[in-house]
Amino acid sequence: MFSTSIGRKIVMAVTGCCMLLFAIVHLLGNSSIFAGAVGLNSYAQHLHSLPLPIIMAFRAVMLGLFLVHVLYGIQLTIENRTATPTSYAVKVSRKTTFASENMIWTGLLLGAFIVYHLLHFTFRVTPGLTLVNDAAGHFNVFAMVASSFSSFAGAGLYAAAMVVLFLHLYHGIQSFFQTMGWNCDCIQPKITTAGMLVALVLLLGYVSIPLSIFFGILKG
Ligand code: HEM
Repeated sequence: MFSTSIGRKIVMAVTGCCMLLFAIVHLLGNSSIFAGAVGLNSYAQHLHSLPLPIIMAFRAVMLGLFLVHVLYGIQLTIENRTATPTSYAVKVSRKTTFASENMIWTGLLLGAFIVYHLLHFTFRVTPGLTLVNDAAGHFNVFAMVASSFSSFAGAGLYAAAMVVLFLHLYHGIQSFFQTMGWNCDCIQPKITTAGMLVALVLLLGYVSIPLSIFFGILKG
């Protein structure tokens, strides 16, 4: 669709920003779990009671954003690797970090996690799930989440995925400002710090859920 690589970078920046907003809102919603089974189940009940066309339109938009972001990410990585062969006589040194060097891998791992996460909690087709109703006869989301994170494997997988999310966002947020041209040398360190803090808040917020359940801090 976009023939120039800057066009594709801008699309990646905008789609990435929309998904970051979703990640922030999703974490705020998920934090209702700290109000126990009643908190999370009433939040889930509220979401499920939204009109179906709104839910489906939201899912279609999210899927579109996700697919465009992944496909352009793969395309840009291939372009960059073909454009900068490692056999240059003079190696130009750019300021890189582990996160910036591995965006494609953290992105692909995150994509794989999101597919698993949807099969797990949205489509509920992964093995060993606790699928029961609560006292009011509504699906008990809390029981499903709590039983999933009561095992080391379940909690550990989500905690590891959130570290990957942190690495991806740590570089992704500052890269967004760079692509949009909303940076300069004077504010670059502030943007880097702010991006790191946002990524860290999301890491700690998300990781606190599986860990609180695994260590028995959070009970229904
Ligand atoms: C500890 C971490 C997380 C927990 C406990 C969690 C929990 C959940 C739950 C319970 C649902 C199903 C809600 C329902 O249908 O009632 C859900 C759906 C979803 N989650 Fe997460 N989530 C986590 C992390 C993430 C992350 C990092 C992302 C990606 C940024 C993400 C993306 C989604 C998406 C796209 C859906 C589907 C929304 C829909 O139904 O349309 N989740 N999550």
